[in-house]
Amino acid sequence: MTAPRTIGIGILGLGTVGQGVWKHLTEKKADLEARLGVRIDLRGASVRNLRKRRAVRIPSSRLTSDPHAIVDDPKVHVVCELIGGTTRARELTLRALRLGKVVVSANKALLCEHGPEIFRAVRRHGGQFLFEASVAGGIPIIKAIREGLVANRFELIVGILNGTCNHILTRMGEDGLSFADALKEAQELGFAEADPTLDVDGIDAWHKASILAWLAHGKWAPRNRTLVEGIRKIGPADIDFARRFGFALKHLAVVRRDFRQNWMTVGVYPALVPNRDILARVSGVNNGITLKGDVVGATTLAGRGAGGDATASAVIGDIVDAIAALTGAAPQGLSAEALAAREKSGRALRMADEEEIVAPFYLRLSLLDQAGVSEGVYRVFSRHKVSIARVIQYEHPNQGRGTVTLSTYPVNERRMAAVVRGLKGLRTVLEEPVVLRIFSPES
Ligand code: NDP
Ligand code: HSE
Repeated sequence: MTAPRTIGIGILGLGTVGQGVWKHLTEKKADLEARLGVRIDLRGASVRNLRKRRAVRIPSSRLTSDPHAIVDDPKVHVVCELIGGTTRARELTLRALRLGKVVVSANKALLCEHGPEIFRAVRRHGGQFLFEASVAGGIPIIKAIREGLVANRFELIVGILNGTCNHILTRMGEDGLSFADALKEAQELGFAEADPTLDVDGIDAWHKASILAWLAHGKWAPRNRTLVEGIRKIGPADIDFARRFGFALKHLAVVRRDFRQNWMTVGVYPALVPNRDILARVSGVNNGITLKGDVVGATTLAGRGAGGDATASAVIGDIVDAIAALTGAAPQGLSAEALAAREKSGRALRMADEEEIVAPFYLRLSLLDQAGVSEGVYRVFSRHKVSIARVIQYEHPNQGRGTVTLSTYPVNERRMAAVVRGLKGLRTVLEEPVVLRIFSPES
């Protein structure tokens, strides 16, 4: 059989995640097609309520209230299940798998509760079930365990796996919000589950921890052998204690494995995490996961754990893997044609000029200890229109020199180089200025 050159994608559910997938898949379609050497046909989406207003504009001809119309469409090869829950989602997932299709899912509840049945259907009918988006939103943790870290056995996987809980704990701790207000905010931002008790009672994190435990160790952790605690009991006094004594309060999922005794534990609970631990600094909707592998050591991945855009990133990653598998295209766009297409677009790409590279700077100057020296330095900055943000002066009595450290507002490299040349030309600047860039992700 020849591999299809047009791959049809159908989406079940156009809520927070479904709309993110529609938007970004539409925007990235041409680029993905060039990388994969395949045409992508975004055939349509099913919703419950056709009249609902949606943030993403979708032609009405592409919408249906009948999910079977998507699943059964012979031109749909990849079905994205973004409905949630375990009833309708299970029925539609199994239906698609029985037709031999690929199902891409963000549904951790479904996988955790019906994983064995789903994978039986995959084996029997030759389809695939991909679920990167089910754990930790946009962080490619499933791929990391399956592929990049495949050489490892993991004695510990510990993570912040629920964006809603982390958002609530951060907003309560840093901004003094009440639990109820912080939860309402997480719901408005699209982070929370349709039933938010799944988030705040720890069930969602348990689903995700079980998936990671199964991936890493091949065993589904039974609910009655897992410690599952949520965050409802956390109050301002707990957060205050943590802050005073060098901890952050985090909702953790912990999977431990003892390879000698051959046991595993899975637990989900709020915990005091020492500030020196990288997970203590994972805040807001972000998730973070530290994996302790016997080969790689401790590796931490962090990033947005919920929300339409981050989750769409993971779903689209799975869609691309599905297309590669269906068409025989090299994964990650590494075919000779894909690389040639990439190089072609790279030829039009230029390197930024010095004027376009902007950052705030830090300078240390060794200056002659003499009246009026500072004015001469400031004149150089103002001649080149560079604004100073902060200054500290250190005196060194009886040495005839002083040290000045200062930072600037963002300035481009060319202007900063002119300032440094000007400073070096001053008789009162005694040594080569020390110049460092102040890193900022925005500049
Ligand atoms: P939403 O509630 O925002 O969207 C659900 C969509 O499914 C809606 O379009 C809804 O239709 C449709 N739908 C709901 N019930 C039915 C039904 N019985 N039959 C047919 N269609 C139905 O959910 P999310 O987008 O937030 O979540 C979707 C999935 O992704 C869930 O499994 C969730 O756990 C998972 N997930 C969510 C993340 C997030 O940040 N929100 C992150 C990672 C995973 P209508 O719009 O007409 O009501
Ligand atoms: N409700 C989930 C969370 C969505 O807040 O983490 C991402 O799985």
